[in-house]
Amino acid sequence: MQKLSPPPAHVAIIMDGNGRWAAAKKLPREEGHRKGAQVVEAVTKAAQNAGVKYLTLYAFSTENWRRSPAEIAALMRLLSQTLDKYRAQKDNNVRLIVSGRRRKLGKAVLAKLDNVINATAKNKGLTLNLALNYGGRQEIVDAANKLLTLGKTKIAEADISKNLYNNLPAPDLIIRTSGEQRLSNFLLWQAAYSELYFTPVLWPDFDEDAFTAALKDYARRQRRFGK
Ligand code: IPE
Ligand code: IPE
Ligand code: MG
Repeated sequence: MQKLSPPPAHVAIIMDGNGRWAAAKKLPREEGHRKGAQVVEAVTKAAQNAGVKYLTLYAFSTENWRRSPAEIAALMRLLSQTLDKYRAQKDNNVRLIVSGRRRKLGKAVLAKLDNVINATAKNKGLTLNLALNYGGRQEIVDAANKLLTLGKTKIAEADISKNLYNNLPAPDLIIRTSGEQRLSNFLLWQAAYSELYFTPVLWPDFDEDAFTAALKDYARRQRRFGK
């Protein structure tokens, strides 16, 4: 019998398809984002139950600023509301951290983020890493610039790895919903040996069963790392 991989310690998700979900229901895009935000809570719980240690969620890319001001405002409003919920549930053992460039995010959002990060810093359960104003290329550039300020003149692979936004283990599994099969600037450095899983399910329809299906598929993968 084929040996099953151990459960993924780090799962990263590109939460895509909110707009198409809303369009199919003749609703404004914002309604898709609203339903999508609810799914975040459900999937965080499912990941916790499955024994996942790190869950990275792609919430807003550096390229998403190209959307209409109204849609961006709606996304930031929803983020703010979701943060309020995580603040209220700070005893759920979920630790919040963020990956992304802080500048460009509004002062109010940043204050709220910091508040939840501090309130949950000691939680030992799941680490929820929110990729917010995140770009994989920008992350590598930011790491390189940090190394320059440290006076480095020669860069090794480990230098980049250690100076990314967060020093998390690389994702074992990257899930993208909505049928698109691309990374869209997500975790470009860290994805080197991640297993990729694409599902046609739109993010607002993604649920615990869909998450479990992804973990089952992952369990059948044979990871070789070049060996
Ligand atoms: C994902 O859904 C949410 C964000 C990128 C913020 P989309 O808004 O990209 O939905 P589609 O891809 O247009 O369906
Ligand atoms: C990627 O989705 C970003 C997030 C899910 C936050 P997009 O919908 O922005 O990606 P593209 O534009 O289809 O590549
Ligand atoms: Mg999309």
